[in-house]
Amino acid sequence: MRTQRAGATQDSRTSLNIPLEEIKEGKVSILGPKLELYSDKDRIEPCWAPVFYNPAMKMDRNISVAFLQSFSILTNKKLRIFDALSATGIRGLRYAKEVENVEFVALNDINRLAYDLMKINIERNGLEKLVTAFHSDANILLACFARRGRRFNVVDVDPFGSPVPFLDNAIRAVENNGVLCVTATDLAPLMGVSKRACIRKYGALPIRSVFSREFGLRILIGYVVRTGAKYGLMVNPLLSYSSRHYMRLFLKVRIGKKRANESIDKLGYVSFCPKCGSVQIRKYFFSLEKVCSNCGSKVEIGGPIWLGELCDVFLLKETVKVFERFFGKEEKGFKILECLLEESSMPPYFYTTDFIAKTYRFKKEPILGSIIRALEEMGYKATRTHFSTKGFKTYADISTIVEIYKSL
Ligand SMILES: C[S@@+](CC[C@H](N)C(=O)[O-])C[C@H]1O[C@@H](n2cnc3c(N)ncnc32)[C@H](O)[C@@H]1O
Repeated sequence: MRTQRAGATQDSRTSLNIPLEEIKEGKVSILGPKLELYSDKDRIEPCWAPVFYNPAMKMDRNISVAFLQSFSILTNKKLRIFDALSATGIRGLRYAKEVENVEFVALNDINRLAYDLMKINIERNGLEKLVTAFHSDANILLACFARRGRRFNVVDVDPFGSPVPFLDNAIRAVENNGVLCVTATDLAPLMGVSKRACIRKYGALPIRSVFSREFGLRILIGYVVRTGAKYGLMVNPLLSYSSRHYMRLFLKVRIGKKRANESIDKLGYVSFCPKCGSVQIRKYFFSLEKVCSNCGSKVEIGGPIWLGELCDVFLLKETVKVFERFFGKEEKGFKILECLLEESSMPPYFYTTDFIAKTYRFKKEPILGSIIRALEEMGYKATRTHFSTKGFKTYADISTIVEIYKSL
């Protein structure tokens, strides 16, 4: 194996001949690419830099820090973390510096420049005792760690695009009751813009609808659940959300074929009527009507998706508290976490104020708060959703929602 490992005492200064600048994020200060050199007009393109760093992902790194802190508090576990695709190392370094109870962090990148830079950044933050850098293909390293006594209780997979190429090995490298963190930025397949790519990569049919983003997130969870099940592992989402250009999952991995079956039982299929907005959910594809029971139009069918909860409420409540304590209520990400709490136990889809107004040709689009209030007054639970600023979730059927629109 051509894996290289940076020892704590090794002199890590190499001839990194790229323009670098200091980047401060959370409690760490790193050297990263001089981003102004990699921009198109005013838009920074982090992918053009020789080593990747995306300032827009700071919010996710904050949420990840808060989540891991909460996980370690509630499970009373010392964390051994593998940040398998590290680039500058910012993510793993922040875990090492900001999450209490971290025993060890491994960083890794296939890019030699990234490896050299992460070694500099380890030293720069005085984390030589806690953090080790590797220079390897993540799949090779993950497969090496997928053995008794070598597994991590946190494995983080944050790739360019789809996480699919890494998931089999990543899931096997997570210790029993550990956490797998997954990022996906290939939203075009997951949200149904490139249907065939979604079928090819995720073995699932996406739906192009008002709730495509949530559907994509649930396709992604479903895929990880099916991947775990192949190895007799139960996978259960602890926190899942989507924002801007990405989707992010934190999933618990547990050994047990019976448990894996229980996870599989939470997968299912959905039909959506683009004409009237009606939604049907079934466990099996063949039990879905191909024609809308509300208006008789042809429906779109998608799945398999995860139909269970997106978050574990207990852990999410703790994450909200920790996020507030670490970063404050005003910091981006807090509202997402609060909203996730509100929308738990709600259906796996949502409507938006403009979708209903447009579909049913209402002249005025009511404000979100008034629809939620009206639904609640009629005895239906209704909430906002973090997926869309105009989105609402409710168990009320489409004709009830339309009646409410008429009354507003
Ligand atoms: C999106 S970046 C990681 C960003 C980083 N986690 C952060 O928060 O800033 C993905 C990284 O994966 C690396 N990479 C791509 N394929 C890889 C592979 N097969 N093994 C290891 N690293 C890989 C790339 O060089 C790149 O640095």
